[in-house]
Amino acid sequence: MKLNKVLFITSFIPVIIFKVVARVGEATLTQAKVAMVIGLILAGIQFILSKRLIKYTTYLEKAFLGFLGFGTAWIYLTPVHISSLFVDHSIALLYFVLFLTTLIPQLFGYDPFTYAIAKQMAPERVWNTPQFRTINLHLTYFWSVIFFVNFLSSWLGHGNPLFSILIPLIIILGIGLPVVRIYPNYYLKRQFTSQPIDPSLFPDTAKELILRMPMGFCPEAAGDLKAEIQFDLSGEGGGKVALSISGGKCTVREGEALSPALTIISPADLWLKITRREIDPARALMDGFYEVKGDMNLLMKMGDLFRPPAKVKEEDLTQKGEKKMKILAIQGSPRPKVSNTEILLQQFLQGVQSQGAETETIYLKDKDIHSCVGCYTCWAKTPGVCIFKDDMAELLEKVRGCDILVYATPLYNYNMTSFLKAFQERLLPLVDPHLIKTGETYRHPPRYEVNRKMVLLSNCGFPEISHFDGLRHVFRHIERSGQIPLIGEILMPAGELLKNEALREKLQGVLQAAYRAGAEVVRDGRVSKETEAQIQKPIIAADELAEMANLWWDSHLQGIAQGKPQEGGIEDMRLLLRGMAAMFNSQAAGNLKATIQFEVTGKQSGNWFLSIENGKCAFHEGKVNDPNLTIQTPSEVWLAIANKELDGQQAFMEGKYTATGDISLLMRMKSFFGSAV
Ligand SMILES: Cc1cc2nc3c(=O)[nH]c(=O)nc-3n(C[C@H](O)[C@H](O)[C@H](O)COP(=O)(O)O)c2cc1C
Repeated sequence: MKLNKVLFITSFIPVIIFKVVARVGEATLTQAKVAMVIGLILAGIQFILSKRLIKYTTYLEKAFLGFLGFGTAWIYLTPVHISSLFVDHSIALLYFVLFLTTLIPQLFGYDPFTYAIAKQMAPERVWNTPQFRTINLHLTYFWSVIFFVNFLSSWLGHGNPLFSILIPLIIILGIGLPVVRIYPNYYLKRQFTSQPIDPSLFPDTAKELILRMPMGFCPEAAGDLKAEIQFDLSGEGGGKVALSISGGKCTVREGEALSPALTIISPADLWLKITRREIDPARALMDGFYEVKGDMNLLMKMGDLFRPPAKVKEEDLTQKGEKKMKILAIQGSPRPKVSNTEILLQQFLQGVQSQGAETETIYLKDKDIHSCVGCYTCWAKTPGVCIFKDDMAELLEKVRGCDILVYATPLYNYNMTSFLKAFQERLLPLVDPHLIKTGETYRHPPRYEVNRKMVLLSNCGFPEISHFDGLRHVFRHIERSGQIPLIGEILMPAGELLKNEALREKLQGVLQAAYRAGAEVVRDGRVSKETEAQIQKPIIAADELAEMANLWWDSHLQGIAQGKPQEGGIEDMRLLLRGMAAMFNSQAAGNLKATIQFEVTGKQSGNWFLSIENGKCAFHEGKVNDPNLTIQTPSEVWLAIANKELDGQQAFMEGKYTATGDISLLMRMKSFFGSAV
């Protein structure tokens, strides 16, 4: 037994001896005088021994010494009728002194009564925990009540041993001591009541568990909290890991925090059990199984700051009850929502969703991502954490949490866009600086366990698939160095055709293949070669594409498509009709569905038609079956109308051009083609 426990027990001896010598219940004044001196001497010895041997004295020792000293003075210095009052009520007075001892110190900011005793039972590291203080305060007030009840019993019982000894003893032993034993556990359990968590949701090691904590971070609970939490986990599956909370975000890295507000020192397996709720954290702390330094309030807040790994929600499960696959698409087009990349990507993601997987698209254009500056801080000073506090911290967590990462980018200079390039460079914190050999090549090992796969999705302006050679090469390197399987290449040349209304039917094959690709990655684990080939198949011949592109650009450059022809007027009939399709006012047309055939004679003869459907107008070469309206005109007449040299209606009346079919459509044309008619 430890010395402090021995001294705690012996502290009762002076009072017991005093009472025995004074003869319980029937003390005479003489006996009491002798007993008082003996008790006082013993209490003095106890007090000195405690001071010398364990360097402190408990409130009990002080209370007993005070009581015996005060009692000695009382019975030696006061007249007989007053001193006999003390002798008759000595036990009641002892309870009263104890009652005052339990009530008064904490009111003046001193440690509560039970504190010193509890300190002898609990390890030093828990003395400053809020729970330790609160439990002691509650127990101290509880003892105040017990001592006061005992005082009343003893006083009103006029020293009768039944009331001054037996009943108080029953209260102390039957109620007081059991409550002291039970209450701390009861209090801690109530504070930390929690549902047991399915252990299968947790990683196998405590280190990995802490590395994943940012995924469960609750910014709402953190508010403007700025703090670092250092974990120092010993044993297998442990290590030093630092969490950093700032600006509503939480990042994690291996190594030491610069100035941790809280340090948790624990055996790794214990911490794993605590977070799995197999062990009560507060109880384990009180019992000294792990150690905490710094801000205890932060420790208490951790339950709010970090959600435990949740049981997969029903909406996150497939019909078969399996966990839904998470597909994260990183979209790198600088014109995110109206891009060809987006058309292709959305088809792909719909295919993914058709198989019950979950998708999220990140538009890099809308994100704040600083370029990597190559300082290697994320490798050296703060392993796993970049010096830039921008949106990338959040994206790194998303990347780590996804099953498939889709890199979606238009082709810029045979490569990815600078948005995607910046993103990719900033993935550096996810790898470790060392070089390891895998097969014949060297690579950086991943800092964290990687289970994801990746898909490359791109489109380019030119018709040749060879434009993607460089990009594919880059992704092959990424695949090998990261050991992240590239499970699909969705590459569409001549991607600008995706918005061409005239080619809508021909585009169906590509769009359906992109959709199928999405379904395949979830269902089969990769995009089939046939599907990839279908997406790469030319929609139109390369020459035709070049001609269309040039026509489009010319109508733009000449301002026709914008309704602002250049000075000198419009000279090309085909360009004019192409431009009319581009400047089409969909609002004025409403839900009109029609085809307008132009049969052009004169210097620039030819057949072209415009088709209007779903608020869009497309320009086509050639003749259409059953047009709603056919306009037969010499090119010179229609060009003169477009250049405002002729009034359209008057020219029609004068028979300079003819129209057959729906003439009301001819009348409405000005409203949706504006100045070109
Ligand atoms: C700066 C720049 C560089 C480009 N480089 C290429 C290229 O190397 N090869 C190619 O075929 N198309 C290239 N293009 C064309 C785009 O890849 C093409 O217009 C694509 O459809 C744009 O996709 P988006 O709508 O998703 O942005 C380039 C376009 C820009 C603006």
